Amino acid sequence: MIPSLVYLLPLYPLAALAALEVDLDDRESIKAAAAQVAEDLLKYYHGHDPGHTIGILPGPPPDGDYYWWEAGAMWGALLDYWHWTGDDTYNNLTYDSLLWQAGPNKDYADKNWTASLGNDDQSFWAMSALIAAEYNFRNPPAGMAQWLALAQAVWTEQTADDLRDGGCGIGLRWQAVSLNPGFSYKNTIANGCFFNIGARLARYTGNNTYMDWSLKTWDWLIDIKYVDDKWNVYDGADISNNCTMIVAQQYSYNAGILLQGAAYLWNYTSDQIWMDRINGLLDGIERVFFIDGVAYEPACEGGVCTADMLTYKGFLHRWMGYTAQLAPSTAGRIMPLLKSSTKAAVAQCTGGDNGRQCGFHWTSGKFDGLLGVGQQMNVLGALSSLLVLDAPEAVTNTTGGTSMGDPHAGGNKMTYDVLGPITTGDKAGAGILTVVIITFASVSLWWMAN
Ligand SMILES: *[C@@H]1O[C@H](CO)[C@@H](O)[C@H](O)[C@H]1NC(C)=O
Ligand SMILES: *[C@@H]1O[C@H](CO)[C@@H](O)[C@H](O)[C@H]1NC(C)=O
Ligand SMILES: *[C@@H]1O[C@H](CO)[C@@H](O)[C@H](O)[C@H]1NC(C)=O
Ligand SMILES: *[C@@H]1O[C@H](CO)[C@@H](O)[C@H](O)[C@H]1NC(C)=O
Ligand SMILES: *[C@@H]1O[C@H](CO)[C@@H](O)[C@H](O)[C@H]1NC(C)=O
Ligand SMILES: *[C@@H]1O[C@H](CO)[C@@H](O)[C@H](O)[C@H]1NC(C)=O
Repeated sequence: MIPSLVYLLPLYPLAALAALEVDLDDRESIKAAAAQVAEDLLKYYHGHDPGHTIGILPGPPPDGDYYWWEAGAMWGALLDYWHWTGDDTYNNLTYDSLLWQAGPNKDYADKNWTASLGNDDQSFWAMSALIAAEYNFRNPPAGMAQWLALAQAVWTEQTADDLRDGGCGIGLRWQAVSLNPGFSYKNTIANGCFFNIGARLARYTGNNTYMDWSLKTWDWLIDIKYVDDKWNVYDGADISNNCTMIVAQQYSYNAGILLQGAAYLWNYTSDQIWMDRINGLLDGIERVFFIDGVAYEPACEGGVCTADMLTYKGFLHRWMGYTAQLAPSTAGRIMPLLKSSTKAAVAQCTGGDNGRQCGFHWTSGKFDGLLGVGQQMNVLGALSSLLVLDAPEAVTNTTGGTSMGDPHAGGNKMTYDVLGPITTGDKAGAGILTVVIITFASVSLWWMAN
């Protein structure tokens, strides 16, 4: 680490050693700063280099820091970046990656990754494909996977009975494969992603079957008390106790994914119930995940942090941005908060070999020495989402959307039967989050539902 740092320093002109500079009142300045952050983010990506796998970040652990899902999330962040700033520099990398990782069944469940395939992991790729459909990203030629059909395939597979049995009602299990640790955990993120995808598929296609499942999923999350009456959003619970021993950790992406899904359902239905839920979720988000107008990840900044958790703030910013656009009456509440938070985010980007890379702790005002994909992606999301209201809204099938769908895509259970050989390393890697959760749980963070 140190030697390469010393070696790299002289390659940068002295001027570049200044912190990331931006005037948040100036659109061009925001774009320029976001472009710098994106460039530094892409330094972690080597998937297009010879001998590497297209679409993925170094990993999964122990081969590198990043699980498969995180690259899927990164391509989505870069699609938002493109749509909001107009910079298409990374579009071709994104296009190649979203297609390559679709896998032979066109469902984001390639056997390379089944050892750590959570339903949420699969969904993060599907949500990036959905962004591609919603922003009319370049469509693949006929015969290849199509953005809308990819999201439909993932959604359909996640309606399968064996992913929803085992107790606690209809909720979706965390893991997609029965051999994986975490198969007995039913959590908010897996269900939140499914809720979110269903809301967007309904709005895009006009097919209300998707919305019906989202409504059922929402009700389940409330009934099982993963979302409480103060709009706290908890992580999940194991089916062994009928999901009553709730892991009371709050992660911003859980609340954020529900918020964004609710915003789509509001935009699609104009039903006041979704506006009430949006405002409720925003109450909880402001209370739990912001300190003095700056995004804060309590479970992580005050406790144990995994590489996964280092990505959540950026999702929160982007999904709040979508909400401001899809539910315009919330913009007056959301946009000033995103701006004050982004100001703090940028202020701590004084790290790395060029003196402008970002850490994770935004409230401190100082670079914390923690570089990585999540940290860069968070600030990219924060900067670019400040431009959301100037960009066209997500299209639908009747407002210019051109992505080809296939309501019969997915549901191909073969995906889960032809598992590749699972190595010890894969197993260990896949289990890490569970171990973290169980550790949290054992230090009395259970919350007993009654
Ligand atoms: C991206 O791919 C398209 C289609 O293959 C090609 O026309 C275009 O030149 C590429 N853009 C860049 C910047 O490589
Ligand atoms: C799966 O792994 C093989 C071997 O590393 C690689 O060639 C292939 O591109 C990978 N496929 C995906 C979808 O990652
Ligand atoms: C388990 O939870 C489900 C859903 O909350 C509920 O319908 C069921 O009655 C519970 N079963 C037991 C044995 O408590
Ligand atoms: C849906 O979003 C668009 C774009 O911001 C907005 O013009 C429209 O009013 C929204 N619909 C509702 C019901 O808020
Ligand atoms: C969009 O709607 C049109 C007309 O209803 C239909 O022909 C087309 O197949 C739909 N496209 C998708 C992607 O669902
Ligand atoms: C609506 O979606 C459901 C679920 O995928 C599907 O079974 C049904 O065929 C779709 N209906 C139409 C009219 O496409």
